[in-house]
This record gives sequence, C-alpha cells and structure tokens, in this order.
Amino acid sequence: MQRVPHLGICVIGGGRAGMIHARNFSSGRIARAELVSVVEPHAETRTRIAAELPDAEFHAEYREAIADPRVGAVVVATPSELHCAIVVAAAAAGKHILCEKPMAMNAPECDEMIAAVERGGVKLQIGFMRRFDASFAAAKARVESGEIGRVVLVKSLTHGPTTPKPWMYDIRQSNGPLSEVNSHDIDTLRWFSGSEFEEVYAIGGNFRSPDAKSTFPDFYDNVVLCARLRNGMQGTICGAQGVQYGYDARCEVLGEKGLITVGHLHSDSVTSFTASGSASKVVRSWSDLFADAYRAEDEDFVNCVLDNRTPRATGVDGKAAVMVVNAGNLSIAQRRPVRMDEPGVTGR
Ligand SMILES: NC(=O)c1ccc[n+]([C@@H]2O[C@H](COP(=O)([O-])OP(=O)(O)OC[C@H]3O[C@@H](n4cnc5c(N)ncnc54)[C@H](O)[C@@H]3O)[C@@H](O)[C@H]2O)c1
Repeated sequence: MQRVPHLGICVIGGGRAGMIHARNFSSGRIARAELVSVVEPHAETRTRIAAELPDAEFHAEYREAIADPRVGAVVVATPSELHCAIVVAAAAAGKHILCEKPMAMNAPECDEMIAAVERGGVKLQIGFMRRFDASFAAAKARVESGEIGRVVLVKSLTHGPTTPKPWMYDIRQSNGPLSEVNSHDIDTLRWFSGSEFEEVYAIGGNFRSPDAKSTFPDFYDNVVLCARLRNGMQGTICGAQGVQYGYDARCEVLGEKGLITVGHLHSDSVTSFTASGSASKVVRSWSDLFADAYRAEDEDFVNCVLDNRTPRATGVDGKAAVMVVNAGNLSIAQRRPVRMDEPGVTGR
C-alpha cells in the first residue's frame, strides 16, 4: 500500500493568530498534516497554551524547532517585524512556510524572503485568508463570470473593535494600522481588480487613542486610502481601530453593469451598531468571522506543499501589499499622492 504523504507543522508564535493555526493543525481537522511543535518565547504564555495542546512539543527559540526533521513546514505568526528573519531561516532549513500577513516591513525584506524560498526550493504562502472565505471567494467568482461587466471600483473596509496596542504607535517602526489591519483590504483590491496599484493618496487621523497623541503625533487609528490602479480601475480602503461596536469587514465591487457586495447590506436604509449593543447580531471578532477561512487556508497550504501546487497568495502578493502600506504611510506623512515607483516605496 502506498503511504499517504504527511506534513509535520511547527507554529512559530503562540499568540492570537498562531493559536488559530495551532488549534486547526492539532484538532485533526486538516487532513495529511499534524502539529509537531509550537515556538513561544514568553514563558507564561507557553505554560498556558501547553495545557491546551498536550500533544505538541514546546520551544522558546525558533532555531531549534526548525532543525527538527519531523517538521516539514512552519507557520510564522510572530510580531510582523520578525517575519523576514524567521522566513529566511526556515527556507534555509528547507521548511515550507505559511507566513501571516503582513509579509514584512518593506519591499527589500520581501525580496530577501522571496530569494530565500527560491534558494531553498520551498513554498511560501502569505496569510491572506479572505481569499479562502466562502463569501469573498463567491464574489470573486461572480466578478470573473462577467456578471457586473468590467470592474470600475473596489471599496474595501476593515473596522476592528479593539484599540491599537502601544507598540503600534510609532508608525515608522510598526507600519501602523494600514499594515496590521488593512493589509487584507489591499490584497482584496489587487485580487478583485486583477491589477497592481499605480498611485495612492491617504489621510489618517487619531480619534480614539489619546495615549498616543503627545508622544506619537503621527499615529492614526482611522485611515482612508484612495487608489488609482494600473489597469485604470479605482479603489478605496477604510480602516479603523477601536470602533467598539464589532468586527466589520465589508467590500463592494462596482462594475459597469452592476454591484457585488460582500458583508451585510440590510433592506432597511439605516442601521446602527453601538458598543452597548444593537438590535441585530454583530460579529465581535475577526477570529469568529473568518474561522472557516483559516481552516481552508491551512488545508490548502498543506495540499500545495504535498501536491506541489502554487499557493493562492504568494510572496509576490505579500510584497505588493507591503509596498502599498509603505506608499500609504508616506502619503499620510507628506500629505500628497505617492506613486508606487518612488524610492520611498520600492526601497531602492
Ligand atoms: N490573518 C489575520 O487576519 C491576522 C490576525 C491577527 C494577527 N495577524 C498577524 O499575525 C502576527 C501575530 O499577531 P498576533 O495578533 O497573533 O500577535 P500576538 O502578540 O497575539 O502573538 C505574537 C506571539 O509571538 C510571540 N513571539 C515574539 N517573539 C517571538 C519569536 N522570536 N519567536 C516566536 N514567537 C515569538 C509573542 O510572545 C506572542 O505570543 C502578526 O504579523 C499579525 O499581523 C494576522
């Protein structure tokens, strides 16, 4: 009997995103894969999550974990600034990689990662799990079927309930909400339009984070980005953190012959959602809204590795989103439209 190929997984980073992947891989819900180990440097967190994942091995340092021959692939779910170094090390060790979004902090880092996976002959998938969400995927199929004619405009928004973490306040270090929150919207614009960005203009404002105001006057927790795409289409992205009322991810695709919406469009013309509750049921967290998408993403990653297919979101997609983040932040800081070929965006 032929042996079914099997992929051993190491999850690097045992926080919010890492634990979604770890639970998926340890639950038996992802065929042909199993959780081997988790890397988490914070001792208290390690003890807490070890109780939940009794069959996994735990490490404080990723280098020893990726040297384990039972590990065929890693999921990188550490703070974003560490993605580049960890992906490069994992690729050099011959491990396939599912890297959470944002891929990295700038275009040169993305290039380094893409070169490392090419050298290592391994797959790199970026965690744009909206591509695996049933509603987003159905909308994409309808766009491709020509149902609304040529696409003119893609509008995407993400509003999150929780206030930004203090490490995000220094935009030059963290890349801010455009990176941490709106990377998904940037990917949605590229995915639905089939085009790269040409130019962006963005404005940001701090409306809900008084702690950041004096030390980090540039910090924004609300952002609007307008984009001209290379193929002539238009795009807008809205991002907000600390909105309290729930987790809100919606998208509209306007074509010459119609409109496709993803997310709720109620028949009443006005709806109101507040922190103290609302008449309708509200999605409270991204991890609830996209639970199935994460599972489908993890499953497809395993299939891409074992069946030698190209992942749905590659390093090219990750890099494109990172460059739009950098262009958007430059536009906010300098109060002007920024072209995608400027040195501040390309890093050269
Ligand atoms: N796809 C999505 O929608 C989504 C959602 C949330 C977060 N993310 C991304 O996932 C990544 C993690 O975000 P999070 O919200 O889970 O953060 P988190 O702070 O909850 O978790 C990060 C974990 O990484 C650990 N860590 C720090 N340094 C490490 C190292 N050197 N090696 C291993 N682990 C290390 C931390 O101790 C922490 O437990 C970020 O890049 C974030 O943008 C993606």
